[in-house]
Amino acid sequence: MEEIDYNNLPEHIAIIMDGNRRWAKQRGLEASLGHKEGAENLKRIAKFANSIGIKYMTVYAFSTENWKRTEKEVSAIMKLLKFYLKDFLTSANNDNIKINVIGTDFKLNNEIKEEILKVEEKTLKDTGMTLNIAFNYGGRDEIVNATKKIAEKVKENEMSIEEITEKTIADNIYTAGQPDPDLVIRTSGEQRISNFLLWQIAYSEFVFSNKYWPEFSNEDLLETIREYQHRTRKFGGK
Ligand code: FPP
Repeated sequence: MEEIDYNNLPEHIAIIMDGNRRWAKQRGLEASLGHKEGAENLKRIAKFANSIGIKYMTVYAFSTENWKRTEKEVSAIMKLLKFYLKDFLTSANNDNIKINVIGTDFKLNNEIKEEILKVEEKTLKDTGMTLNIAFNYGGRDEIVNATKKIAEKVKENEMSIEEITEKTIADNIYTAGQPDPDLVIRTSGEQRISNFLLWQIAYSEFVFSNKYWPEFSNEDLLETIREYQHRTRKFGGK
């Protein structure tokens, strides 16, 4: 297999971790077990990405639309988030991974909110990869929130309408201060964006994998990076 170029890694990789339920169904298991295996895989992939030098990773763990799933499935995903946040509290520092949960905390219970704050605080100074976990996240919702924040500043005379630029939007979304994703991966053969990082993906490269998320391996990640490295990025220029 062709080596990847470690001097030309994507700085930021975003992943739509799709196919947990199909993975479970294929094995005659309940959906929640697919999510459990998906969460385990997220831990493996995050550690591996950090170890090869990826600086930012953003993963789609729960969308604002996922509340429409059965109560049983929603509650299983909430439990997994809580479990892995606690797990990261003990292991993240060893790996130097900085955890950042992005999305709105509206509708999340207090216990989860506390766990989020704890792990973010504990890993704040870590200098390895930043892992953004998009949870109760929607791309349009993020832009609406940013718009409200900016409107508030205009209303309070902290800035004028003329001063609003693309940077103003970038500074008021959840990923403020981070580079946009270079590479977006979606697993399980689906090829749509599903309201993920709408502002940030303007110039991202997309790679789709047919593997279901729980079986997407370190080698599959390297394969997507290889494909990314074969592309020529133009950013609208020549
Ligand atoms: C998409 O597969 C996956 C999700 C909606 C949930 C992803 C959640 C995790 C990986 C676990 C979250 C845990 C942590 C630690 C953040 P799907 O359910 O839509 O599968 P399908 O497309 O086969 O139906």
